[in-house]
Amino acid sequence: MELQGEVLVVELRLDSETKMTEKPIIVTRHLSKIYKTESLETVALADVSIQINKGEFVAIMGPSGSGKSTLMHILGALDKPTQGEYILDGENVEKLSDDELADIRNRKIGFVFQAFNLLPRTTALKNVMLPMVYAGIPKEERLKIAQKYLTMVGLADRMNHTTNQISGGQQQRVAIARALCLNPAMILADEPTGNIASAQAEEIMDIFQKLNREGHTIVMITHEPDIAEHAQRIIHIKDGRIVLDSTSHKQRLINKK
Ligand SMILES: Nc1ncnc2c1ncn2[C@@H]1O[C@H](COP(=O)(O)OP(=O)(O)OP(=O)(O)O)[C@@H](O)[C@H]1O
Ligand SMILES: [Mg+2]
Repeated sequence: MELQGEVLVVELRLDSETKMTEKPIIVTRHLSKIYKTESLETVALADVSIQINKGEFVAIMGPSGSGKSTLMHILGALDKPTQGEYILDGENVEKLSDDELADIRNRKIGFVFQAFNLLPRTTALKNVMLPMVYAGIPKEERLKIAQKYLTMVGLADRMNHTTNQISGGQQQRVAIARALCLNPAMILADEPTGNIASAQAEEIMDIFQKLNREGHTIVMITHEPDIAEHAQRIIHIKDGRIVLDSTSHKQRLINKK
């Protein structure tokens, strides 16, 4: 009996040591997503099992329709899988109520999604301040935080311009500032450099690498190999399945400071 007890203690220690070094923020097990319409069943994801650890910078690549956005919506707890398990920062998403999910999204995730989702005819400053209103942050503090992040993304002189008075790349940077204002552990970005000039895309990658060095986990969808190379790890997805998961490429660092 005593011996069994000792063995058990050793095993527990090993287990907690492994967890301390790996610190997963995303764990999916055999995820699938099937969309059903009247005439068609689409398998958007099939048997996706991945682990992403805190502090990683991951790019997800794949052809149009391969399931990237579907995966991102599930990882962001915006949608649930048809089958499989998703553990987000230690919590089984399936077991959480809608309110708990909304709370996790607000506290842990910054979304930078396709088509920007900025409010039109509203200033950059107000766009960035809005999520902080919902989080109950007092007005003066909201203003300070919004100014800080808009300055960080290089828009100090555009804060009072409305969405239609700034360029596409600048809009994307407002979306990044907005995603950052609640200091999320993880940033999920769906084509953050889509439809913008390559110089501005580099600037956005520079911002992401800076954030990653500060400890933020970043998961970014892109169809551009040049952009994916800024990440440390590239996951390729095809027909809803992971076909390659590589950390072997050389990460393109823009600025080491
Ligand atoms: N709400 C939906 N209902 C039915 N089918 C859907 C729905 N959303 C996506 N699909 C289908 O699921 C598949 C995966 O779509 P998804 O949006 O994840 O692709 P993607 O890899 O993000 O593509 P893109 O690079 O074009 O953005 C596609 O075949 C798409 O047509
Ligand atoms: Mg997509």
